Parts: sequence; C-alpha cells; structure tokens
Amino acid sequence: MQSYIIKGGEKLEGEVEASGSKNSSLPILAAAILNRGKTILENVPNIHDTKIMLDIIKLLGCEIEEDGNRVIIDSSSIENYEIPDELMRQMRSSVILAGAILARCKKATFSYPGGCDIGARPIDLHLKSFKTLGINILEENGEIFCDSENMTDGVVTLDFPSVGATENIILAATLSGKTIYIRNAAMEPEIVDLQNFINKLGGNVLGAGTKDIKIVGTKSLQKNIEYKIMPDRIEIGTLMCASAITKGNIKIKNVKIEHILPIVYKLEEMGCEITLKDDDITVIAKNRMKACNIKTMPYPGFPTDMQPIIATVLGVSKGTSIIVENIFENRYKYLAELKRMGAKVTIEGRTAIIKGIKKYNSAKVEATDLRGGAALILAGLNASGKTIISNIGYILRGYENIDKKIRKLGGNIYTREGE
Ligand code: UD1
Repeated sequence: MQSYIIKGGEKLEGEVEASGSKNSSLPILAAAILNRGKTILENVPNIHDTKIMLDIIKLLGCEIEEDGNRVIIDSSSIENYEIPDELMRQMRSSVILAGAILARCKKATFSYPGGCDIGARPIDLHLKSFKTLGINILEENGEIFCDSENMTDGVVTLDFPSVGATENIILAATLSGKTIYIRNAAMEPEIVDLQNFINKLGGNVLGAGTKDIKIVGTKSLQKNIEYKIMPDRIEIGTLMCASAITKGNIKIKNVKIEHILPIVYKLEEMGCEITLKDDDITVIAKNRMKACNIKTMPYPGFPTDMQPIIATVLGVSKGTSIIVENIFENRYKYLAELKRMGAKVTIEGRTAIIKGIKKYNSAKVEATDLRGGAALILAGLNASGKTIISNIGYILRGYENIDKKIRKLGGNIYTREGE
C-alpha cells in the first residue's frame, strides 16, 4: 500500500501541462473495439483505470501496443464477448463495454460493475435503454447476458441524463444498422469526444453535447485512424484549486476553456484572478479565498467530480459556504478525513455547510475515493507540517503523475511505500 507524504505551506508556482481525459479515454478505448482496423489513440493518461480498460479489451481479443501516452489497438479479431467478474468489479466504467461488445459481437456477458463508493450507482438506466431498443437481457446469479440480434430502430428517453448510459447507447447503436434517438441525453464534453471519435472512424452520431442525439447505425466499421483524447477537465480543475488553496500562481497548458467555465466562474467568485490565452489558463490567488455556494449539476452545471476539491478550498476560505451534491448521494465521505485536519463542516443529507477556518492542520488521513483523495492532497498542501495520506490507490486510478506535477510547481509531495 502506498501513501503520500506532504509537507505543506509552499505556494505553487509555474507551468504544468494537463493530461488527457480519463472519462473520455475510457469510452473511446471501449469504442476502439468497434473498429476492424487499427486505432491509434494519443493523449491517453497512464492511470490505473485506463490500464484496467486495456486489460479487458486485450482479453476480448485486441492486440495492444503502448508507447507513453500513445496506444495502438488492433481489434481486427474480437472473439470473446465475456467480461470477467474480477475486472468488472475494479471499475465502474467497465459497464460501457457492454454497448461496444454488443455492437461488435451481438452478444455480451458481464456482471455488476464496481468503482468508487460514492453512492449506489445502479445500472438500471443502461439496462432499461437496452431493453427499449429490443436487446434481450437475461440476469442469472449476478451475471447479465445480453443479445442484440433483434435490435430495433427506436427512441430512448433517459429518466436522468446519465453519462455512462448515454455512452452505452451510442456504442450499442453505432453498429446496429438501425436509427436510434436519445432524448434527455447527458451533454458532457466527453460524449462529444466519443462522437468525434466514432465519426472519424466512419460512424454517424449527431447532436452530442445537446439533449438530443441521433445515431444512424452502420453494419461494420474498418479504418486505420489516429485520434487525440481531449484534456482532462477535472484534473485541470484540481490544479486550479491547488493554486487557489496555496495562494499560488500557476499556468496550466493544454486546456479546453469551454469545458471548465463552471469552475472558472466559481473560482473567480472566490477571489482568483484567472486569465485565458489560447489553450492556457493562469490562476492567481493573491489572498485567502472567499466563501461561496455550490450546487452540483449535470453538464453544463458545476461538475460533481469537482465537489470534494472545491469544498476543500472553501474549508479554508473566509466565511460560510453551502454545498449541495445533487448527483451522488454519498459523496461526502472524505469530509470525515478533512475534519481530522480541522475542517468545520456539518452535513445534512445532500447539503454540507462549511465554515472556513484559517488553515488546515497536518494529520494522518486516508483517501476514501478518487476525488476525495485528491481533495486531501490540496488540504495537505495548505497545512503547515507533515500530512500523510494512505490508500492512495484511489487517487492513482484517475490522476496521471499528480505528485510529479505538484513537485514541478514547487510543492513537497512524495510517495512512500507502505502505510
Ligand atoms: C460519469 C463519470 C463520473 C462522474 C459522473 C457524473 C466516467 C467514467 N465517469 O460516471 O466521473 O462523476 O459521470 O458526472 O465518465 N444512475 C442511475 N442508474 C443508472 C446510471 C446512473 O441511477 O443506470 C445515477 C447514478 O447513481 C448517479 C447519477 O445517475 O447518481 C449519475 O450517474 P452517471 O451520469 O451515469 O455517472 P457515470 O457515467 O457512472
């Protein structure tokens, strides 16, 4: 088990480059199995979750070459349509492989996915959408068997704009030969990235980024293509907040500004000076931040993945802030750890009330999930003294070289083997 040791108190300064998006890489790696040709993906972050996705698609029959952030996938012969239970359990996003495997093999077998413990995270919307499109589903002893031989044209109206369900329908529909509409689709930028990838491959997806998506399915796709994954807007937001919490001055390169506007607006309200130039963003925090209120919402609202991170900045901002978490019902676990560092927080259902203290105190804490773990890094950078974060496996699931990036900016963070 690895831990991070952080000696806080340093102001973060300098330049750093954003990595490719985790939440975009995962569906696009799944989409690569739709291609009977060779897919070259650039800017794939080297993180635990992308490794699991690559392990699964290898098991399905893909040949994979990795060279830094470049991944070459040859999916000309996919024969296996079963995802092993132990790999399903390691990552929530494994569920989007169901749509991709169904598209390619007309059959898929999988079990319930795992992932961070931030809520119940059922897959009912995925399965209901599949059924609406004529996909046959049989559940037995925790295993789910799907068959898409009799898929039909159709309209799926999502009860909630689920990101994963939207991606799963797009993937299943792309090789169905049918015309499928999604209503109340999720509008996240990662879905636009998936659409761009599929269309570059020769597929026909329209409307991603809006509530209405149309997929005109074809029968087969075969092309040798290269595609670059978009930057990770949550990693960028995390680094912006690291500047805010350390009274820093950092420039982040390789940013898509339009993806991070909700974060920019909140940090400006809190007192950051933010300048945007081409694909670079500079975040300067001259003074202690001010309190503000935040409600997480589906895109283009404030992202739930940023909630623990910005809440940690608010924990040392001037005044009282109110946070409402509308997407996941159990996303405040990290606050118990933050309290060990002195945070003054009360939780009432989906609402957290945060009274800003001057500074965190260092402590021994434990990462409880991916973004909650990243939040503790920020608290450690703010605290004076030595903070030890254990269980950092969660953080490594989604952040590429976060320790190196922070060190480059002047922060003291080191990895230690063992508790
Ligand atoms: C994706 C992101 C995750 C982000 C989340 C919300 C990836 C790999 N992960 O997760 O980082 O936090 O979007 O922006 O892209 N729900 C159901 N039934 C379902 C599906 C979802 O009730 O079948 C609920 C979930 O429990 C949750 C809400 O819908 O409360 C949103 O989930 P969803 O948008 O599906 O998130 P993910 O795709 O899992």
